[in-house]
Amino acid sequence: MDKIIIHGGKRLEGDVRVSGAKNAALPVIVSSLLTDGWNVFHNVPDLADIGTIKKLLTGFGAEIEGDETLRINAGEITSCEAPYDLVRTMRASILVLGPLVARMGRARVSLPGGCAIGARPVNLHLKALQSMGAEIDLHDGYVEARAPRLKGATIYFDISTVTGTENIMMAASLAEGTTILENAAREPEVINLADVLKGMGAKIRGAGTDIVEIEGVKTLRPVEADIIPDRIEAGTYMIAAGLTGGDINILGCMPGHLDAVITKLKEAGMEITPIDGGLRVVGNRNITSVDVKTLPYPGFPTDLQAQMMVLMSMGGGVSVIKETVFENRFMHVNELTRMGANITVEGNSAIVRGVSELRGAPVMATDLRASASLILAGLVAEDTTEISRIYHINRGYEHIEEKLSSIGADIRRVKG
Ligand code: EPZ
Repeated sequence: MDKIIIHGGKRLEGDVRVSGAKNAALPVIVSSLLTDGWNVFHNVPDLADIGTIKKLLTGFGAEIEGDETLRINAGEITSCEAPYDLVRTMRASILVLGPLVARMGRARVSLPGGCAIGARPVNLHLKALQSMGAEIDLHDGYVEARAPRLKGATIYFDISTVTGTENIMMAASLAEGTTILENAAREPEVINLADVLKGMGAKIRGAGTDIVEIEGVKTLRPVEADIIPDRIEAGTYMIAAGLTGGDINILGCMPGHLDAVITKLKEAGMEITPIDGGLRVVGNRNITSVDVKTLPYPGFPTDLQAQMMVLMSMGGGVSVIKETVFENRFMHVNELTRMGANITVEGNSAIVRGVSELRGAPVMATDLRASASLILAGLVAEDTTEISRIYHINRGYEHIEEKLSSIGADIRRVKG
């Protein structure tokens, strides 16, 4: 298995360009299932998860061409089954459920199963589809859903769910009547999807707020659209500047998607200023320990919690990091501790006592964002860090070694 080797202690300086957002590209690519004809999506990132969703849609009969500019025609759907061997590698595959039922009247999608950060049920997705008239059965680990035509409904999400909101927003776009989503997710990726659906002819109001209204239409037409930049990738590089006392221009990001992150990093002592096309981020060696609580957007993103923990590991005091979104998202703590971090987990809080240095060590990635935190720790540790199971990082960070090397990091991938 491939590994990443980092010789840390280098100050990072220069320009890094942010790629398209994985968590926007996935639902937008899936939305092509709702149309008959060629859709064109720009700024699609080169990631393992994008490869997975392309395999899934090809399996349904879609024609797909290109990479960063992706062309997809789902005019001919010959299968409505999402197989376990693909779904188990990417939970976001559940996003095909709503569109397939809305377009074809049926779907058989493997249950995603849990992952390192939690059980991650999809009960809210299924409950919402049932309230729209779908018959849902669970057989052999698969969800089997049928509905001659979905009907609009008022749906309250007990928990603000990002892919749940996206799944039902797509399904409701072709339903008969109006659907109201209450306690809908407000993430920028939800807005990106809503904008694409509206370009297809969907009638959606309120995307980006917690009440979204979708008036179903009979058909949707193919569209050309852009994927928004990845705010989590941007935040990861911002923290890299903080850790190495660096000076990095984060180009192509949307600062408006990063308010909570910018606020927290400024509290931690970093200088963050808007520049033409992005942000200039300057770190200094005196990192202030601050408390962080992860929340649904616009709160501090759970997908940057592990990365922030590395920064706080180098803080001057004590930081309490509270994870409120997922029940088991501290898998990176043990590995960071092996590198000399001083972290104690108490329930869904991690008490992080700043230390003067981290030491390189052989460590193992457990999930996508944990692997990003190990890379960040390797960047600041004075000696050598070797990270195994880096297939996790391939899922969500486009060309991360090249991007970090271009701003001065000593990082390389070795074939295992
Ligand atoms: C999306 O996952 C993202 N993935 C995640 O990013 C992100 O961490 C998460 O939203 C929260 O922001 C994609 O967009 C592809 P949720 P999602 O449904 O939609 C519970 C990454 O690293 N819940 O918003 O699966 C759930 O267990 C990934 O890029 C239910 O109980 O997350 C969690 O505790 C990781 N039942 C909470 O809600 C449901 O039916 C929020 O989950 C659905 C969710």
